[in-house]
Amino acid sequence: MRIFLLSCCFFIVLSCGSDQPVIHPETAYSIIPQPVSILPGSGFFEIDHNTIVVGAVELEAETAFITQLLDQASGYSIAHKMGTATETRNKIILSLDDTLTNPEGYMIDITSNGIEVIAKKPAGIMYAIQTLRQLLPPEGENKIIKGLKIPAVEIEDYPRYAYRGMHLDVSRHFFPVDFVKKYIDLLALHKMNIFHWHLTDDQGWRIEIKKYPKLTEVGGFRNGTVKGHRPYDGSDNQRYGGFYTQDEVRDVVTYAEKKHITIIPEIEMPGHASAAIAAYPYLSCFPEEPTIIPEDIISTGGKQLQAEGTPKIVQETWGVFDDVFCAGDDTTFEFLEDVLDEVIPLFPSEYIHIGGDECPKENWKRCPDCQKRMKEMGLTDEHELQSYFIQRIEKYLNTKGKKIIGWDEILEGGLAPNATVMSWRGEDGGIDAAKQSHQVIMTPTTYCYLDYYQFKADAGKSTAVGNYLPVQKVYEYNPFPEELTAEQAEYIQGAQANVWTEYMPTEEYVEYKVLPRMTALAEVVWVADSVKNWSSFKSRLERLSERYRVLGYNYAKVDPDGEEFIQEQPTENKSE
Ligand code: ACM
Repeated sequence: MRIFLLSCCFFIVLSCGSDQPVIHPETAYSIIPQPVSILPGSGFFEIDHNTIVVGAVELEAETAFITQLLDQASGYSIAHKMGTATETRNKIILSLDDTLTNPEGYMIDITSNGIEVIAKKPAGIMYAIQTLRQLLPPEGENKIIKGLKIPAVEIEDYPRYAYRGMHLDVSRHFFPVDFVKKYIDLLALHKMNIFHWHLTDDQGWRIEIKKYPKLTEVGGFRNGTVKGHRPYDGSDNQRYGGFYTQDEVRDVVTYAEKKHITIIPEIEMPGHASAAIAAYPYLSCFPEEPTIIPEDIISTGGKQLQAEGTPKIVQETWGVFDDVFCAGDDTTFEFLEDVLDEVIPLFPSEYIHIGGDECPKENWKRCPDCQKRMKEMGLTDEHELQSYFIQRIEKYLNTKGKKIIGWDEILEGGLAPNATVMSWRGEDGGIDAAKQSHQVIMTPTTYCYLDYYQFKADAGKSTAVGNYLPVQKVYEYNPFPEELTAEQAEYIQGAQANVWTEYMPTEEYVEYKVLPRMTALAEVVWVADSVKNWSSFKSRLERLSERYRVLGYNYAKVDPDGEEFIQEQPTENKSE
């Protein structure tokens, strides 16, 4: 079969090194991320009312997905069945081949007779379908195309990195299940495979924990949100919040699984704990001390609660706060273990993210229990106490068959033995961890923080936080630091972009910040650095942007002639 020859042949690789042809925007083979090899054929395969999809029995979700895409685009009710194909033409065959080497790779062969897709695993089949989808006209996402044709081509493809992540902070602003699914769809379209769901933080606890109902009843809501930038412009005095029930979480996890996206939940500790502490003040070193929110920005409701004798409230402003989980009291660990006991069965992921970033040590320094713990354990400073905290949680999670990921602060005071480090304060943490033979995920602020503003024209606006991060800079990122030997670089699992939502109050804002910078990262983590080509990417992005438009995503538009991308920001901004 022609497709089997694919793996043995040398392919024309489009859009890669300087001696290679660059893909034309108008070609039908405009795909992001750029496949490893594309060999254009002649002619096309036309979908008609007799076309049949035949999927191997293990490929039920994938068969359903491609059939649904083709039903939508063709207007036919495309027949499909599970098993082995006997048809000789007009067929779309999805099959698995265990002899292929790359666990996420796939091959596609399109001729006038049909389409054959082969992968080692179902994930590869799903990526192949996402590629096929980009070979179809974008309008087919919501309109019927008469005489739907797919150009003949042979494609072989596999990713550069195993970890291709996107994060979403649902604590600073809450996003409902429907949006989370839309976000997952977006990841899937770009062959990203990890959704890092930042579920807890100072401004809201977003996951139901049955043993601790106040986490969401109290910790899931705040009485107001600061307006504007530091030093802020008062409170909006709007009660704000929300959370996901465990049933909703299961539903999202199942949804993501069908798209071959693993959800890694983040339960933040020991810092960023104000919402949990508002629900259960005993988790603080100082349960009687009020949550600090400056007088001129605390909400009326928050002020009233404190005046009536409820010192701990959910944070209403952004930043890093001293009131963290007490590391000296065993009840903190009992609480966290109970919480994790409920989180673990909800998420099949091998990993749980336990935060570990931005934990001030001021309270621990003056807390008798924390100081006692340090003495008992022979810890020389509070960084070692943080390390004790993380290692204790790691040990617990390891006994439950889970591994931890933590932000790079978990390096301070000694790395937990099996931890993966998420390097965000530049790449140094990741480099250090890789040198210590720990797995690493790169997410340096300079390339991967999508809360940073993407247009110079946005500088200074209340919605523009951090620094300038245009899409081209994201595209330039190479997660392989030069300081590492090839052997050490094996520990770099991939990269992730982070979407912190302090200044993203709406779904439209999130989409605007993510697109097209996530698109750029999708190519960074999929293709070899040597084959990246900015002008090819820009051209292909033009076509993909058309799909975003049809799918209803609020993307930042391409300016094909200029260096920047142009679009006015959405006007609504609650925090302005
Ligand atoms: C972080 O951005 N604080 C991980």
